[in-house]
Amino acid sequence: MNNCTHKKCFEFCKNKLMDESEIKFVTLDKISKQTEDEYLLRFNTSINHDPGQFMQVSIFGIGEAPISFCSYNEEYFEMSVRNVGNVSAHICNLKVGDKLALRGPYGRGYDMKNFEGDNVIIVAGGSGVAPVRGIIEYISQNRDKFGTVDLFFGFRTVSNMLFENDYKKWKNLNMSMDIVLSEGPKHSKLKHGLITDLLESDATKSNDKKIVFVCGPPPMINAVCKNLLEKGFNKDQLYISQERQMKCAVGRCGHCMIEDKYCCTDGPVFRYDELEGYQG
Ligand SMILES: Cc1cc2nc3c(=O)[nH]c(=O)nc-3n(C[C@H](O)[C@H](O)[C@H](O)COP(=O)(O)OP(=O)(O)OC[C@H]3O[C@@H](n4cnc5c(N)ncnc54)[C@H](O)[C@@H]3O)c2cc1C
Ligand code: FES
Repeated sequence: MNNCTHKKCFEFCKNKLMDESEIKFVTLDKISKQTEDEYLLRFNTSINHDPGQFMQVSIFGIGEAPISFCSYNEEYFEMSVRNVGNVSAHICNLKVGDKLALRGPYGRGYDMKNFEGDNVIIVAGGSGVAPVRGIIEYISQNRDKFGTVDLFFGFRTVSNMLFENDYKKWKNLNMSMDIVLSEGPKHSKLKHGLITDLLESDATKSNDKKIVFVCGPPPMINAVCKNLLEKGFNKDQLYISQERQMKCAVGRCGHCMIEDKYCCTDGPVFRYDELEGYQG
């Protein structure tokens, strides 16, 4: 069933596809421009979720889009939205005080309790940095429960960088950070090249008690995983986040399938060996 949010269809669908109580209305408390086409939205409401999970965000009469949580705390939640089409353009044009309809949280995120005691490597590119910010905030609140934390981020240019205001805080929590830019003029302090160039670091020399979270465009995920597997990492040490077109988000319509898996319920976070043989 097409879970359209046109007012009439919405009335029709919601009874069949989901319980009305699943819809939450939240009020926008803060919106800030992060890059030319990305906005950070804050809602002073708590929604219990794991990092990596997502909400279906509705704009009535327009449609729905899956958007990840990019924060992790008990007071508010944040989403980083890139204006790429119909729904996202409306979300990015919201004003403080506007209401937004959401359903979720959906999907399988990162089960962070399971990784306590591990050394963490996070490799993220472009807007893929948004969902992993939830992991970083989780670790920040439980810093003594994790070993070394190494962050490797790739952006196209310096003006595409996300969450720059957080970097100092993360470094102060003893997390190492390395950033690479793939385009644009040379930057005096940042490296230029591909994100795989950053993996020639001490952090990836051994796979001992390490867990790696990879999020970004599919070619980046593939290149990073191939690189780490060649370095001796095991498939069950790599976690990847997959994005697929979604409709229902509850495992009923089949729009999001990757082989025999539903991205909306089995993912979007998968352990690498769970998608064995699939090349995204
Ligand atoms: C699990 C998950 C988590 C996600 N988390 C985030 C997040 O945190 N932040 C975020 O910004 N996005 C996120 N996304 C992606 C987001 O859901 C999509 O970008 C979504 O499609 C946006 O909806 P839209 O209506 O704005 O775009 P659409 O109008 O559906 O357009 C989507 C894409 O199709 C292209 N397109 C649209 N119309 C046409 C056309 N007529 N011809 C050719 N191409 C066209 C657009 O250029 C765009 O690239 C996530 C997706 C998934 C699956
Ligand atoms: S979006 Fe419908 S099954 Fe996943």
